[in-house]
Amino acid sequence: MNGAQGNSPDKTSDSGSLAARSLRAVWHPCTQMQLHEAAPPVAIDRAQGVWLYGVDGQRYLDGISSWWVNLFGHSHPHIKAALADQLERLDHVMLAGFTHAPVVELSERLGALTGLGHAFYGSDGASATEIALKMSAHYWRNTGRPEKSGFIGLAGGYHGETVGALAVTDIPLFREAYAPLVRLAATVPSPDARGALPGETAVGVARRAAASLQAWLEEHHTHTAALILEPMVQCAAGMAMYDAEYLRLARALCDRFEVHLIADEIAVGFGRTGTMFAHQQAGIRPDFICLSKGLTGGTLPLSAVLTTDAVYAAFYDRDVARGFLHSHSYTGNPLACRAALATLELFDQTDVLAANAQLAQTLDLAFAPLTQHPAIRNARRMGMIWAWDVDPACTTVPFFARRYARHALAHHLLLRPIRNTIYAMPPYALDAETGAHLAQGALAALNATLAEEGPARAVGGPLAPTLSQSAQLPLP
Ligand SMILES: Cc1ncc(COP(=O)(O)O)c(C=O)c1O
Repeated sequence: MNGAQGNSPDKTSDSGSLAARSLRAVWHPCTQMQLHEAAPPVAIDRAQGVWLYGVDGQRYLDGISSWWVNLFGHSHPHIKAALADQLERLDHVMLAGFTHAPVVELSERLGALTGLGHAFYGSDGASATEIALKMSAHYWRNTGRPEKSGFIGLAGGYHGETVGALAVTDIPLFREAYAPLVRLAATVPSPDARGALPGETAVGVARRAAASLQAWLEEHHTHTAALILEPMVQCAAGMAMYDAEYLRLARALCDRFEVHLIADEIAVGFGRTGTMFAHQQAGIRPDFICLSKGLTGGTLPLSAVLTTDAVYAAFYDRDVARGFLHSHSYTGNPLACRAALATLELFDQTDVLAANAQLAQTLDLAFAPLTQHPAIRNARRMGMIWAWDVDPACTTVPFFARRYARHALAHHLLLRPIRNTIYAMPPYALDAETGAHLAQGALAALNATLAEEGPARAVGGPLAPTLSQSAQLPLP
């Protein structure tokens, strides 16, 4: 498939190009800006379905749903129509003292889908994390146990990068510079199935990790407000997947030790792991659910925290100070809520989860050559998330991820490995043809990256045998 499809090539000079102007005017997220001297940002003009169209006339298949937000493809007609209609009626009104149909209907729908309610809105994922942490600690204060204000997270967990969220985000690179600002949470072992001992199953890893959680809670529960975790897949940890047994055991332990369970479904909600919400695979009910990303189908920033009647009741009082005095200017923005409602309507119109299950099987076949590549370890999938670890002996951290992303772009593909883990989290709108493009490009980018890594690694020592084998594989 030819990637050159865009229709508005960037005819401007280099210094006047969008990328150059962006580097002068925009501070890009999660980026060491100096690295852009070698690789400027890719200027995108428009997007349609699974494709992003560059101003340079190239197009790129969005293999990671633009940071895991897009569900049904870009510029979806149903969401666009809903937004256009909403824009005619009501763009925004503050939610303190006012309400409107989109926020009410969305809250009712989310309540029906999750079994929790009292939807509280934020803008991005990190603001949902902040809301859930604050609500949990405030609940214990309101119920006469203010000492229960600590948090626990899983090793490698990621819940956002604002100062409060960093406390439960176990990614030292993101956190270290801000250590004096952060009230660090405790970390217990992850149930990541890749940590299995010889002969151990994923369930065994889950039970072992739960035993560590139990030991920690036995000692610290009196000062602990909540356990926060990403159910089933720790995405930022490199798509660490684990068995639902951990969630069942964690729920039981949280009940036993009177600690809230916060399910951060920001990345894994809305069908990503094969069920509407990932925690549903364990048949449990968390005390808080954080939602964002796919909530609006990838169109507008919106997040929500849902909780139990018991938590809500602890704030319901004559005393203003016992209320949840937290707000953001755009809380419950009508446009964002309407986009979320339109997204949920798309789940009503067809059996998305069943269609995805079928699509995933087709994609498994397309990905087989990548899965069987001699440099690949731990090939895994859950729902619409695929991941492959590249043998560390074949990679140069951190160059591998950058090089791979560059080669993927050359194959008209947006894929950005996390360290040495290649992953795909595409929109649900792929078909056989675009799926083949994704799979072939992902493999070609791996071979090109390994070929480039080869000489670099040779400086430090001999190439691993797997690399020399893989380097001989024919490009698709
Ligand atoms: C599980 C999880 N929680 C929270 C966040 C933070 O969301 P945001 O980047 O919208 O603040 C992310 C973002 O990737 C995430 O994956």
